[in-house]
Amino acid sequence: MDLSYILNELGEDRAHYFNAIAPPIMQTSNFRFNKVDELRAAFADEMSTYLYSRGLNPTVDILRKKLAALDGAEDCLIFNNGAAAIFAAVLANVKAGDHIVSVSKPYTWVQRMFDVILPRFGVSTTYVDGRDANNYFNATKSNTTFYYLESPNSWDFALQDIATIAAYAKQHNIVTLIDNSYCTPLYQQPIAMGIDMAMQTATKYIGGHSDTLGGVLSGSKEMIKRIFDSEYLNIGSGIQPFNAWLLIRGLRTLPTRLERINRSTKEVLAFVKAHPAVKRVLYPFDESFPQHQLARQQMKEAPGLFSLYVQAESRQQIVTFCESLQHIQMAVSWGGHESLLLPKCAGMQDEEFDATNAEHQMMRMYVGLEDAAYIIADLDQAFAKAGLK
Ligand SMILES: Cc1ncc(COP(=O)(O)O)c(C=O)c1O
Repeated sequence: MDLSYILNELGEDRAHYFNAIAPPIMQTSNFRFNKVDELRAAFADEMSTYLYSRGLNPTVDILRKKLAALDGAEDCLIFNNGAAAIFAAVLANVKAGDHIVSVSKPYTWVQRMFDVILPRFGVSTTYVDGRDANNYFNATKSNTTFYYLESPNSWDFALQDIATIAAYAKQHNIVTLIDNSYCTPLYQQPIAMGIDMAMQTATKYIGGHSDTLGGVLSGSKEMIKRIFDSEYLNIGSGIQPFNAWLLIRGLRTLPTRLERINRSTKEVLAFVKAHPAVKRVLYPFDESFPQHQLARQQMKEAPGLFSLYVQAESRQQIVTFCESLQHIQMAVSWGGHESLLLPKCAGMQDEEFDATNAEHQMMRMYVGLEDAAYIIADLDQAFAKAGLK
């Protein structure tokens, strides 16, 4: 399907709302019925009509159609945030006694779910270094029913060979879910590579303005309906109409924003790589990246995020660097209009800092929509103030 059609037309029935270009925000919790039999049909299949906005809502549906098409999937559900999308997808596909194989270091709240919540219900998880697909296969037991992937990881950008893992999982009746947040479906198409469910946090690039959260879960019609009829309706973490409307608005400019971010990322990266205080960068499309070839093979682009290791002797030097930034903001998350920086050492005390441990000297940078030169000048003056040279 044509990308321009998806972003500008798909799902939008403008004749139904006065030919308005922008869709209405259908801010209603409830829908009325004229006929008892219509109500009966809605009870029998809540996915067939509008009954109550914990289920379907017309504004959310516009977004749903667009995002399923972007993923190349038969259908999708939009959640209030990405963590909820992952939670529902996993919960819907495991039962007591099951075993999950997950990529190591998945997103924080995924790891908490695997480590803290699922064991209470008799579901165990083995973490593997997903850079070698064999690690997934070797960790698979007779009760393994679920593979969790996140490619690339959003800190160290470790990749999994998506098609190889998906093919093995299919042969062994194992359900697969991938976190595709870094690439978005514009730059990586996991469903086409054989993955059962692709999720992304729409909070990042889809929203693009740091003003709403959202989560997308795409898959087959059968899988999505099963999740809708159970976990989606039961957990009640579907997105609200206004937030869905913000995401529709964000989507219109997604390719344009990503193109600019890609260009700026390369420029900022070139500056950072050439800076004497920077020991190393981690960026999937850089030749120095160990899985560079696989990245080029399964991703179309690598937008926005990269990590850098600086030659800092103390935690204070990194603190000074971060606190000297005048435009780049220190914050979690990414994908918005604003450039961000996140130092790994924020999670430790001064005395824990070890200048021989590269992890302690790591920072994650997100390149936003500002001019690349503006971002570079800010980094440059902060490096100087922190005595990083
Ligand atoms: C890689 C990744 N996956 C999932 C999530 C969860 O998304 P949300 O914050 O929308 O719940 C995040 C959030 O930061 C993330 O970085």
